[in-house]
Amino acid sequence: MSAHPRTLATPAGTLIIYSDRATACQVAGDRMGSAVREARAKRGRAVLGLATGSTPILVYKRLVEQVQAGELSLEATSTYNLDEYYPISPLDSHSYHAFMHQHLLEQIGLPPHQTHILDGTVPEAFVTAHCAEFERWIQADGGLDLQLLGIGRNGHIGFNEPMDLSVEQALKLPTRLMPLHPVTLADAAADFGGQPDLVPQRALTMGIATILAARSILILAFGAAKATAVAQAIEGPITASVPASLLQTVASRVTWLVDEAASAELNKC
Ligand code: F6R
Repeated sequence: MSAHPRTLATPAGTLIIYSDRATACQVAGDRMGSAVREARAKRGRAVLGLATGSTPILVYKRLVEQVQAGELSLEATSTYNLDEYYPISPLDSHSYHAFMHQHLLEQIGLPPHQTHILDGTVPEAFVTAHCAEFERWIQADGGLDLQLLGIGRNGHIGFNEPMDLSVEQALKLPTRLMPLHPVTLADAAADFGGQPDLVPQRALTMGIATILAARSILILAFGAAKATAVAQAIEGPITASVPASLLQTVASRVTWLVDEAASAELNKC
């Protein structure tokens, strides 16, 4: 039996393998807390990039614990979410607005002006301007100190789905509206009462360029369903058809926190 956690240097960054996801999520929550403290000490404010989905739920639980215990203050801290379905109302219980309010924002009482989630109600003619404005807000805040990511079964990060683009083109992608990939739609159906027809076919997503510009990136993957995507992203070629493999281009700033099942297809493990 191997000791945990195990830390490995990989082409896509530091990889830490845990025996259970709860510990990995606790570590991720603690790292986010540390990132906030360090950024505020260094430049007077902190900027977190947040993810939704099943993966980060326990991470947010840990963040909430730190705030409620008085160990962490989120004063002078802004958050930017990776993505939002399109179209969708923020009042819809399936929206990522609702997810963030349920799992984090309500519990820590973060004032609305400190949190930014792309707006799934923006008329289509204004989507490009809305996405450009989102990028400007991040810039004006001094850039992302830490971006939290999950990974899709198809290797997506945010809703940057597998693309038929050159690496050079993919690395320049800004925040934009994207059609969702069939694998993503199938996975999302569970959250929409198992009815694929109810899943919005598109989403607003932070771009690859926006994500990779973060000063540090924490990517989490749990469960056997993620094993192929994790192996392709970490050990496969850098390609836009596996968007998470683009993390290899900024490997020195990336940490992967995974469980045994998600690491099962890595050759080195
Ligand atoms: C969510 C997001 C997605 C998810 C990914 C994994 O904001 O950007 O990339 O991180 O689809 O989803 P889960 O965690 O539900 O397996």
